[in-house]
Amino acid sequence: MSLRLGDTAPNFQASTTAGDIDFYEFLGDGWGVLFSHPSDFTPVCTTELGRMSQLQKDFEKRNAKILAVSVDPLDSHKNWVKDINETQNTNVSYPIIADPDRKVASLYDMIHPNASTTHTVRSVFIIGPDKKIKLTLTYPASTGRNFQELLRVLDSLQLTSEYSVSTPADWQDGEDVIIGGNIKTEEIPDKFPKGHKIIKPYLRTTPQPNK
Ligand code: BEZ
Repeated sequence: MSLRLGDTAPNFQASTTAGDIDFYEFLGDGWGVLFSHPSDFTPVCTTELGRMSQLQKDFEKRNAKILAVSVDPLDSHKNWVKDINETQNTNVSYPIIADPDRKVASLYDMIHPNASTTHTVRSVFIIGPDKKIKLTLTYPASTGRNFQELLRVLDSLQLTSEYSVSTPADWQDGEDVIIGGNIKTEEIPDKFPKGHKIIKPYLRTTPQPNK
């Protein structure tokens, strides 16, 4: 069954390049980014896992742990990591789950049989500290993902979980945000003292409150 926003992310135990893990224990009370890739020793996946390694510190700054999964076995992952490190100028230290029996892939519906009957598609799940699914993304095998976008979404999710705001198209951390529809216009000055603009009654903006 497919997982939807707001569903509880299923827990699992797995062998990874960083040792055996229990997913919930690994996440602790922070955020998680679980992403699948189709296959080891393939070009797009090599660049993707390298890029995530380069960005790992940026995820950590946001209290988010990252982990990858594919249906390849552990020995293959470990050998492939050497190539990723060499070619992408990095040192992968986040776990890559070995899922040859497709336990995690099935749990998270990462095999889309009309795309490939054997390999995981490029799925992403962002999981909140409450273990609920906050974002899902599915990309085809031929298109490498934009991992900066995941950092942008984490910034938005973390902001909007604290304040009654939402973030507009292409928003970047530090830019104006949209005041929640639940806030009455007369309440705005108290709740958002940095100022506000009423562009339409339903489109009201304010400087980012936590900056
Ligand atoms: C790749 O990572 O380059 C790739 C993997 C599976 C299918 C197509 C491309």
